[in-house]
Amino acid sequence: MSEKLFIFWHYLSRLATVLCLCANCTLVLATPSANEPISPLPKRPYAHPHIVQLGKILFNDVRLSRDNSISCAACHNLAKGGDDGQKTSTGIDGKRGTRNAPTVINSSLNMAQFWDGRVNSLSHQVMGPITNPNEMGSEWDSLLEKLRKDLELSAQFERVYADGITRENLIDALVTFERQLISNNTPFDKYLQGIPNSISAFAEQGYKTFKQIGCAACHQGKNVGGNMYQNFGVVIPYPKPDSDDNKEDYGRYEATGKESDRYKFRVPSLRNVTETAPYFHDGSEATLEGAVRKMVHHQIGRPIDDESVRAILAFLKTLRGEVSGDLL
Ligand code: HEC
Ligand code: HEC
Repeated sequence: MSEKLFIFWHYLSRLATVLCLCANCTLVLATPSANEPISPLPKRPYAHPHIVQLGKILFNDVRLSRDNSISCAACHNLAKGGDDGQKTSTGIDGKRGTRNAPTVINSSLNMAQFWDGRVNSLSHQVMGPITNPNEMGSEWDSLLEKLRKDLELSAQFERVYADGITRENLIDALVTFERQLISNNTPFDKYLQGIPNSISAFAEQGYKTFKQIGCAACHQGKNVGGNMYQNFGVVIPYPKPDSDDNKEDYGRYEATGKESDRYKFRVPSLRNVTETAPYFHDGSEATLEGAVRKMVHHQIGRPIDDESVRAILAFLKTLRGEVSGDLL
């Protein structure tokens, strides 16, 4: 291919990706480079092993919470899909939040963090739980003072950061660790790379259905989601379930205040979705099959037969990957 032709083709492929991000689009316009709406996960980025190790320690350290009772891992258990398996999470003093904990695995690949995308970087995200009174309830000054008393931890910080334990360094270590949480080597990514027999014929049939009926219009890209905001109930409105405290969740509207964002949520990633029950922003759906059926009903609006549901479930299983054992 000549260079000019290549540039033109590259431009067209970009355009196609942009077009398919439009709201309510049901067409799947794949990037011609891969010819698929979903692309394989990138590799773990390089990071200094001492910083990753420090981030891992902090992620599992209950001292980040005011009363030394919970760590990040309490709500984001990496051995169990990176979430807590609860409908909504329990923070310090048994306080319950209003949203289901999303997985931290592959979350660095989402365009923004949280169900409403209210922060666009992991560094800003980390500040949330540490000081959120419903989660860890700490105050920065007392937290840093508490940690500085630990001479071993101080030495570990000083090994990689000249100024030792500071808020910025703590955030940097946690975020560096979180960026390592990529679930590589999924059967589906091997299939995308053309490796024969990576997934069963039934799972492949499920993937085809997933594309044909329009799931991939929203759940797409390297994270099979995480790159747009959509309403739950684009075709058939979703009855708002009572949340525990009976407060309605307005989703993206709570972050932007824009009327058009009311009830929009960031489309969740479906990577590792078999491990992250219960489902939806309010954790209202206990099973993956139930979640798929609700999506078919509310987002697609046309029924599909039971075999197609089973095939989609078989496809979703192939999105399961594992984070590297040294991070657990
Ligand atoms: C009490 C439970 C709890 C604790 C402790 C907790 N989280 Fe979370 N986490 C949640 C919930 C719930 C959400 C979703 C909140 C929302 O969308 O409004 C979330 C969201 C996130 C997200 C966004 C993921 C995405 O895809 O949007 C990341 C990243 C994250 N937490 C990392 C951390 C880190 C790092 C810590 C420790 C400093 C931590 N969490 C501590 C419950 C918790
Ligand atoms: C119009 C966009 C759109 C389409 C089409 C769509 N989804 Fe979704 N999907 C979403 C949104 C938004 C959510 C989050 C809803 C919420 O929690 O409020 C979601 C949530 C999910 C969840 C729950 C994930 C979790 O971690 O909680 C699954 C599973 C899912 N979708 C599968 C599918 C399947 C299978 C299809 C096709 C039958 C489909 N989706 C079609 C936008 C879409």
